[in-house]
Amino acid sequence: MSRMLVTGGAGFIGSNFVHYILENTDHHVTVLDKLTYAGNRASLDGLDAARFSFVRGDITDASAVDALVAGTDIVVHYAAESHNDNSLDDPRPFLDTNIVGTYILLEAVRRHQKRFHHVSTDEVYGDLELDDPSRFTEQTPYNPSSPYSSTKAGSDLLVRAWVRSFGVQATISNCSNNYGPRQHVEKFIPRQITNVLTGERPKLYGDGLNVRDWIHAADHSAAVLTILERGHIGETYLIGADGEKNNREVMELILTALGQPTDAYDHVAERPGHDVRYAIDSTKLRTELGWMPQFSNFEVGIEATVQWYRDNEDWWQPQKAATEARYLSQAR
Ligand code: NAD
Ligand code: TYD
Repeated sequence: MSRMLVTGGAGFIGSNFVHYILENTDHHVTVLDKLTYAGNRASLDGLDAARFSFVRGDITDASAVDALVAGTDIVVHYAAESHNDNSLDDPRPFLDTNIVGTYILLEAVRRHQKRFHHVSTDEVYGDLELDDPSRFTEQTPYNPSSPYSSTKAGSDLLVRAWVRSFGVQATISNCSNNYGPRQHVEKFIPRQITNVLTGERPKLYGDGLNVRDWIHAADHSAAVLTILERGHIGETYLIGADGEKNNREVMELILTALGQPTDAYDHVAERPGHDVRYAIDSTKLRTELGWMPQFSNFEVGIEATVQWYRDNEDWWQPQKAATEARYLSQAR
């Protein structure tokens, strides 16, 4: 049994990880989360109070972070500003949380000599052409496109420097696009589902041929636990489930799952700097650590996700109008 401090545990992927840990291990979890617009305390409702506690706080608050890190065994770092469109409008919170916040955590784990796992994204590698047969590997050079991905790239490089210069016991994972329950309605899949459920037309950026490599959030959680249990200090692991689909295909699957015609959506303004394609080669994680994704059928995963949003309107409805108002101001 270990004590885990999970930053950003009230967000989409962090909350899926906390549920996964409480269901599949005997570890104790403390969540540190600022509850920004993206955090939702309800995502952690009903967890076993004997093994779970919640602290509202900011990862850039050095004294709060120091006290929490002192009392834990492992820090799993999910907290971030995570949405590309927001980063194009106002990059500053991305620098504060993703770069300064990661620095504050690294200094605390260095002082208290704690194990650290940094959760990152494949977007640090930039993008690939549609006709390029290659995929990202751990050797792909960093080439981020947006304020979001460049601050995640910066945070990854800080972790590597703290490992090399100060001997911090850290690992890094870079994962592809996640889907599943409890994802904020600003993101592609939940936005389209909840648009249909609220009578809005779904919205596709540009021609919709951009490719994302989809993985279920539960598979991501299992991969992070595998790295915590068997990963080698100082190493980076790419996490992906061979789930490449273009945005049009995903849109059509969502509309089908909701019983709508497959062309019942609008084309809206292109995202500036829009990455064309992401694709992950996760051979290292699979062969060296023995992880395998379990959610192999994307269509079934989308149907289950649609059902989750149908069943949990109380969870997402309070965010919906403000999210669409923000998109309207961006013509997206
Ligand atoms: P999210 O936006 O749903 O959740 C982020 C959480 O962090 C929220 O609960 C928010 O309140 C919290 N937070 C933000 N700033 C904070 C601060 N200063 N102090 C404490 N808490 C703060 O994000 P997500 O999609 O769950 O992503 C989680 C992590 O996974 C991020 O590091 C992201 O870069 C990475 N990631 C995401 C994806 C994806 O598909 N969404 C893919 C790969 C990696
Ligand atoms: P998103 O969920 O924002 O993730 P990311 O930017 O990290 O890949 O977007 C996924 C893809 O969907 C991306 O190519 C942008 C596109 N997209 C739309 O076409 N319409 C939308 O309403 C949104 C939010 C995204």
